[in-house]
Amino acid sequence: MQQTVQIDGVTLSLSNKIANDSKWIGQTEVLRQLSACWLVVDEKDLPLAPRLIGPPGIGKTALAMAAASLRDQELYIYQCTADTRPEDLLVTPVLSSQGKIAYHASPLVTAMIRGAVCILDEGNRMNEKSWASLAPLLDHRRYIESIVAGITVTAHPDFRCAVTMNQDDSTYEIPDYILSRLQPTLSVGFPNRQDELAILQYHLPFAAPEMLALTVDFLQQSHSLKLDFSARDGIQLLRYAIKRLAQDPTHPASLDAVWLESLEACLGEDALDMQAAYERKSRSLQGDSLPQGLGDFFLDPDDPMHPDFDDDEA
Ligand SMILES: Nc1ncnc2c1ncn2[C@@H]1O[C@H](COP(=O)(O)OP(=O)(O)O)[C@@H](O)[C@H]1O
Ligand SMILES: [Mg+2]
Repeated sequence: MQQTVQIDGVTLSLSNKIANDSKWIGQTEVLRQLSACWLVVDEKDLPLAPRLIGPPGIGKTALAMAAASLRDQELYIYQCTADTRPEDLLVTPVLSSQGKIAYHASPLVTAMIRGAVCILDEGNRMNEKSWASLAPLLDHRRYIESIVAGITVTAHPDFRCAVTMNQDDSTYEIPDYILSRLQPTLSVGFPNRQDELAILQYHLPFAAPEMLALTVDFLQQSHSLKLDFSARDGIQLLRYAIKRLAQDPTHPASLDAVWLESLEACLGEDALDMQAAYERKSRSLQGDSLPQGLGDFFLDPDDPMHPDFDDDEA
């Protein structure tokens, strides 16, 4: 039976929490930064709703889930999409079996009511109108107004929130007045070799060591070329390679060949020839023709994309 609550005489049925036993491996600093955002140090203090940014598959959602699990709080995730409407984000009217209107609280509003954590996942996909409905929630007012249900819902003091955003092209411009409420910006970076191996091992404890080694080598090389292949890519390609090997245990093709087949099938041709992919990316960046000197502004001097980068030193 779905849980319900009464607010201003309106019955809301609540969303279901997410089972969460997420573990975060390595990169302890960014986990501590997120945990700090959610601390409240004084009666007059308020928690922060940070933005977690980074390329797809790098671990933004996993990080927020792990931070929620550390706090021992219930977790709700709202998956933001291009056609999320304000009422989807807050309260949706549904026709009940008795032909009456019933109201369903979104994962976000459920988390507000229950004093839980809500991750607004892939927030950069959501349009401005939906973001606007969250403005009062994200500042000192800590409430939302549901036009549909005609109620105001105030967040429980334990309510915490974080927004993940991919740094890719699939983004809406989020207006500044919203971005200024989503602070600080916490940047999730690529793991080092040791952590990356531990992440793959954690998710695929049954993977052969040779397979893991090939994958970590591939990912680390891709990170050093600033390509966006991620932990998620590594996990997917390993899963497929392992399945392909398991299919034919009596005449196994060579492990390397199966791994390569999986690399191409999962990640495409660019993954087979990362150097070429890197050069293409490099050229397209230069095509944006930064005025001279601006390379320094956007790029580290030891970044391979930097105009003055010296290959011999790498
Ligand atoms: N540091 C980490 N510890 C544990 N798992 C990780 C870590 N980084 C990435 N992963 C795993 O990689 C996959 C992709 O992470 P995810 O959080 O979905 O990426 P994003 O939200 O940035 O697109 C998930 O299976 C996640 O558990
Ligand atoms: Mg995610």
